[in-house]
Amino acid sequence: MNDQTEPKGDVLMRTMAMPADTNANGDIFGGWIMSQMDLGGSLLANEVAFGRVGTVAVSEMNFSRPVKVGDVVCTHGELIKVGHTSITVKVEVWVKPVLTPQAGARYKVAQAQFVYVAIDDNGRPRAVQAPL
Ligand SMILES: CC(C)(COP(=O)(O)OP(=O)(O)OC[C@H]1O[C@@H](n2cnc3c(N)ncnc32)[C@H](O)[C@@H]1OP(=O)(O)O)[C@@H](O)C(=O)NCCC(=O)NCCS
Repeated sequence: MNDQTEPKGDVLMRTMAMPADTNANGDIFGGWIMSQMDLGGSLLANEVAFGRVGTVAVSEMNFSRPVKVGDVVCTHGELIKVGHTSITVKVEVWVKPVLTPQAGARYKVAQAQFVYVAIDDNGRPRAVQAPL
């Protein structure tokens, strides 16, 4: 049961679900939604890390409602934790139907926790540091 009425965190990305991203049911493929989440979360992690990051883990992945072609897909992110080299972001995906009679009300369709690691030019972990 999802009774959350407002997204948590800042808007990281906003796009429209397209026919090319559907699964065999005609709904939007979960892998596409996960890639949006990973990309959105990495934008926040890039800012915190002041540079490159790599995704090291995803947990608590949950898809609560289907996404339809034409839905406006908004990826929100909230910084949960900054470790020595890692950055944990809680990511939520909300949709706003704009092409159906129910247009207007937005609702949550997915959430997960992503862990990113700040990496150097050789792809090795580096300490997350505050800017000078
Ligand atoms: C990201 C990467 C450089 C990390 O290297 P690593 O040798 O595994 O790093 P470490 O074991 O030193 O762990 C680094 C940090 O990640 C955390 N971490 C590692 N595995 C984790 C996991 N499964 N869950 C949560 N945190 C994890 C560690 O706790 C550590 O955090 P801290 O420094 O804040 O304490 C390496 O795993 C990698 O290159 N992975 C592939 C990345 C990738 O291609 N992702 C997909 C596309 S972006």
